[in-house]
Amino acid sequence: MINAHLLQKMINASNDGIVVAEQEGEDNIVIYVNPAFERLTGYSADEVLYQDCRFLQSGDRDQPGLERIRQALSQGQPCREVLRNYRKDGSHFWNELSITPVFNDSDQLTYFIGVQKDVSVQIKAQQRLLQLEQQLAAVQAELAALKATDGSNKSQI
Ligand SMILES: Cc1cc2nc3c(=O)[nH]c(=O)nc-3n(C[C@H](O)[C@H](O)[C@H](O)COP(=O)(O)O)c2cc1C
Repeated sequence: MINAHLLQKMINASNDGIVVAEQEGEDNIVIYVNPAFERLTGYSADEVLYQDCRFLQSGDRDQPGLERIRQALSQGQPCREVLRNYRKDGSHFWNELSITPVFNDSDQLTYFIGVQKDVSVQIKAQQRLLQLEQQLAAVQAELAALKATDGSNKSQI
């Protein structure tokens, strides 16, 4: 059995942000964040305690993942979504957020644990790849059109 001190050390050493939140009405208020959360977001634990993590979305609320998170949380289900989030300095990052419900011995939902992973590099690479694929498709279409014109010109000679 891992002792509490070692467990604390592991949570402190994690490269991913870890948040524990408690349901309070419509909100899930933060009661704990680890040091990686502070590094990732630029907010200190004191600045985020007792707030709902939606402040990380700034005004960027039109995200399909949010509806899926809302649904999962209301049903006490786990979920994983990639969200656009904003650090304290306003800079943007892609947050792969995984939320898991925690139940007590009487099967009552007590907390949610959130794990945040910065996947900005992967998302930017995916976006660049998509852009290059679109450019390639456009060039291929142009080439096919040129070949077709060339073929019809030759047949007229
Ligand atoms: C434990 C936990 C951690 C969360 N972490 C984040 C987060 O890092 N970034 C974020 O944008 N939303 C996070 N959320 C989601 C928001 O708190 C909120 O549930 C979401 O915005 C959907 O609800 P709303 O439409 O009422 O804002 C987290 C939720 C929980 C329960």
